[in-house]
Amino acid sequence: MIHKGLKGIVCTETKISMIDGEQGQLVYRGYDAKALAKDCSFEEVAYLLWYGELPTERQLDHIKGQFKSSRQLPNYMKHIIEQLPESLDMLDVLRSVISTVELSSFDEPRVKDAIKITTLVPGIIAYRLHIVSGKLFPEIRDDLDHVAYYYYMVTGQEPKLEHVRALETYMILTMEHGLNASTFSARVTVSTKSDLASAITSAIGTMKGPLHGGAPTGVLELLNEAVQTHDIRSMIQEKVQQGEKLMGFGHRVYKTMDPRAIALKDVLQQNKQDDDWFDLALIVEEIAISVLEELKPGRGLYTNVEYYAAAVMNELEIDANLFTATFTASRVVGWSAHVMEQLSDNVIFRPKAEYVGPVFNH
Ligand code: ACO
Repeated sequence: MIHKGLKGIVCTETKISMIDGEQGQLVYRGYDAKALAKDCSFEEVAYLLWYGELPTERQLDHIKGQFKSSRQLPNYMKHIIEQLPESLDMLDVLRSVISTVELSSFDEPRVKDAIKITTLVPGIIAYRLHIVSGKLFPEIRDDLDHVAYYYYMVTGQEPKLEHVRALETYMILTMEHGLNASTFSARVTVSTKSDLASAITSAIGTMKGPLHGGAPTGVLELLNEAVQTHDIRSMIQEKVQQGEKLMGFGHRVYKTMDPRAIALKDVLQQNKQDDDWFDLALIVEEIAISVLEELKPGRGLYTNVEYYAAAVMNELEIDANLFTATFTASRVVGWSAHVMEQLSDNVIFRPKAEYVGPVFNH
C-alpha cells in the first residue's frame, strides 16, 4: 500500500508537542499551548521547547540576555543581502542568508545556535526592507524582548503593549506543530548528520509553499475578493466546485476548528475596535464553513491558524509580504527543537518509492 504524502504514517516519537486533531488540542511539552500563549513570553516558551521545562526566573533572565546579545547582523550577511536580486521574496532571502550562519559546532546542534538563528531573523528582514524599499534600518536595540524587538525591526515603529501581546500570542501558537511538512524537512536533513543551519534552510524552503506557510497571503486575497463581490456565498461555492482550495481552511490533522485559530480569534475579539476587516473575516468564515459542509461533507474542514494569522497581522499593520516570514520567525524555534531531538536518537530517513515506470528487458 502506498501512503502518498505519508498520510497517517507514524515515523518517529517526539516529546516536543502533542496534537489531538479530533478534540482540537495542542500541547507543548505537557502544557496547553493556548494557556502558554496567554501567560508566557516568547523566550519562556522557546526555553520550554528547547530544554523540556519552563525556565526559572534566573534561567529566563539568562536566555533573554542571550537573545539580546546575538542581534548584531554580521557585515558579510549585509553584503549578501545587498547582492541578492530584488525579485527574490522575503522567504527566498531568509533561506539564502540563514544558510550562511556560522555555528558554534558542526557536530552537535546547540541551543546557543538556535538562539542565534532566531534572533538574526528580524535583522535580516529589516535589512532587506532597507535595501529594496529604502526603509530606514532601525538601530539594533537591547532594551526590548524578542517579540517587541521583532515588531520594531520589521515595522520600524515603537511597539505598543497591545500589539506586542497580539503578536506574541500568534508567535507562540505557531512556534511548534509536530511533524508538519517544514519540520519534517528539517528532521530529514539533519538525519544525515548534516548541521542546524542546513536543516533550517531546508525547512524555510518547505515553509514557503502556499499549502503550508504561504497560506495567509492567500487568505488576504480571498477576503479582498469577498469585498468586491455582491454574493460571497456564490463566489465561494464556485471556487470549491472548481476544485480550488480555500486558503486558511482545512488541515491534515485537525478535523475540527484549529485551536490556534480559536485563540487568535479571541485575541482579535478582545482588542477589537472599529475593525471592518475583522468583521468581514468573521462573515467569510461562517459562509465558507457552511459551503464546505455542503459541498465537501464529512471532510471536517474548518478555519486553520493561517486564517486568523492574516487578520492579526493586518491589524498590526505588518505588510502582507511579511506574513510567511513572521511565521518563519516563530517556527524556527520548533524546527531547532526537532533537530536536537532527531539527533538524540537518530535514524536516517529513507522511505521507498514503488517503481511504476517502464522496465527494460535486455
Ligand atoms: N478548500 C476546499 N476544499 C478543501 C480544502 C480547502 N481549503 N482543504 C481540503 N479540502 C478538500 C479536498 O479537496 C479534499 O476533497 P475530496 O475528498 O473531494 O478530494 C478533502 O477536503 C481532503 O483534502 P486533502 O487535500 O486531501 O487534505 P490534506 O490533509 O491533504 O490537506 C491542507 C491539508 C494542505 C492544509 C489542505 O486543507 C489545504 O490545501 N488547505 C488550504 C491551504 C492552507 O490553508 N494551508 C495552511 C495549513 S495550516 C499550516 O500549514 C500552518
